[in-house]
Amino acid sequence: MKLHAVVLAAGKGTRMRSEMPKVLQPLAGSTLLDHSVSAFKALTQRFDTRMTLVIGHGAEQVKASCEGLDCHWVTQTEQLGTGHAVAQAIPGISDDEIVVVLCGDVPLLTEATLERLVNAASDKTPALLTVNLDDPTGYGRVLRNDQGDVEAIVEQKDGNAEQLLVSEINTGIMAIPGAPLKRWLSQLGNSNAQGEYYLTDVIAMSVADGYPVVAVATDDPDEVAGVNDKAQLAQTERALQHRLAKALMQQGVTLRDPARVDCRGQLAAGSDVVVDVNVIFEGDVRLGDRVVIGANCQIKDATIGDDSVILANSLIDGAVIGKQCQVGPFARIRPDSLLADRARVGNFVELKKTQLGEGSKANHLSYVGDAIVGQNVNIGAGVITCNYDGANKHVTEIGDGAFIGSDCQLVAPVKVGAGATLGAGTTLGKDAPAGELTITRPKQITIAGWKRPVKNKK
Ligand code: UD1
Ligand code: CA
Repeated sequence: MKLHAVVLAAGKGTRMRSEMPKVLQPLAGSTLLDHSVSAFKALTQRFDTRMTLVIGHGAEQVKASCEGLDCHWVTQTEQLGTGHAVAQAIPGISDDEIVVVLCGDVPLLTEATLERLVNAASDKTPALLTVNLDDPTGYGRVLRNDQGDVEAIVEQKDGNAEQLLVSEINTGIMAIPGAPLKRWLSQLGNSNAQGEYYLTDVIAMSVADGYPVVAVATDDPDEVAGVNDKAQLAQTERALQHRLAKALMQQGVTLRDPARVDCRGQLAAGSDVVVDVNVIFEGDVRLGDRVVIGANCQIKDATIGDDSVILANSLIDGAVIGKQCQVGPFARIRPDSLLADRARVGNFVELKKTQLGEGSKANHLSYVGDAIVGQNVNIGAGVITCNYDGANKHVTEIGDGAFIGSDCQLVAPVKVGAGATLGAGTTLGKDAPAGELTITRPKQITIAGWKRPVKNKK
């Protein structure tokens, strides 16, 4: 079966009260549109597929956001209705394709449901995705005859009192054979309450033309919920996060509270991973076996090795953390940092573009940037790499086994040899030789009998 998705994404989304086109509103780390096409994209594995996006409002922005998406674009300059929108895509549709109508603002549709819908359709049978709602207000109602066969869809604004009692609604998602669809769309009129060309009128035309319509029902209203305003956007985000948390738990991840973890990207986790509350994962994150993430951490585009522990309130972005490492609490690991196995980074330590060798530690209150640190190095409290001269960034190199005393400043470019020791408070402007103690502290003196000044008496 050849499938051709036509994704309706031309609307303005007035109710979002945003400058941004509706379909670009953010959801779990990407856009509404991106999520709305994900179920169809998953079908590309098993079906011969093509996709056309119908854009209008913010067309250029929408296009730019879909870089890398394999699809055709058509522009609907005036939004004259859903039927008119699908008609814009018709020149690119072949007769032997099944047209799968999707909405750019229905992001939670699952692959399984979409597959059920397309499998119910054929070149002789349109299929319609429906759901029963306790409150169907606002939606198109599915009208059936006495035998229970689908006859038509009537929109809220056009329905009579009896029709509006129907609780089975049109989700807007359908699969319709291309050849007759072309004929039906060309016959659409707009004499209805909204003066629009309704795609939904195709259903009655199909039945009249001898193509019975099958309704495929889903029992999960969340899955087909449209997102029209910020309240629905927030609800949809929660529903999606709930789904993602459930999937993580099914894979064996321990979530201290599934309602207090947010996943804005792809998270791959090994076995026996534990995630405490208020953790945000962003981008591409991979956690090894037995990794523990403490409360209030934000972890973005990072790989964390087996048995490593990230303690509370740490931020990790664009870093690779080895095995058996300990990071935090209150650590900030910035892009291009690499912690080798058993490295430790403690509280109020910031690392940027830094390699920390195996077993090395920076446990307290440090800034280490643009540094290459060997193995088993101890970086004392308050150490700062002065990597920036106001114009350029420079590298600090610290050899294996070096000991950097507390409160040292390493003015880069500078090297500390293997096994070297820097005395506390040293301001290192020249390389420190291997194996030696280097110290810039002035000699300590005591002035005997010195008295503190006292206040003058008035
Ligand atoms: C539509 C259906 C209704 C269904 C509901 C499900 C019609 C006539 N009605 O109603 O039966 O219950 O969806 O959510 O189809 N769009 C365009 N161009 C247009 C008009 C719409 O691209 O000219 C896009 C919108 O941006 C939106 C989607 O199509 O993504 C649906 O349009 P909308 O106006 O929201 O339709 P509803 O009134 O919700
Ligand atoms: Ca809608």
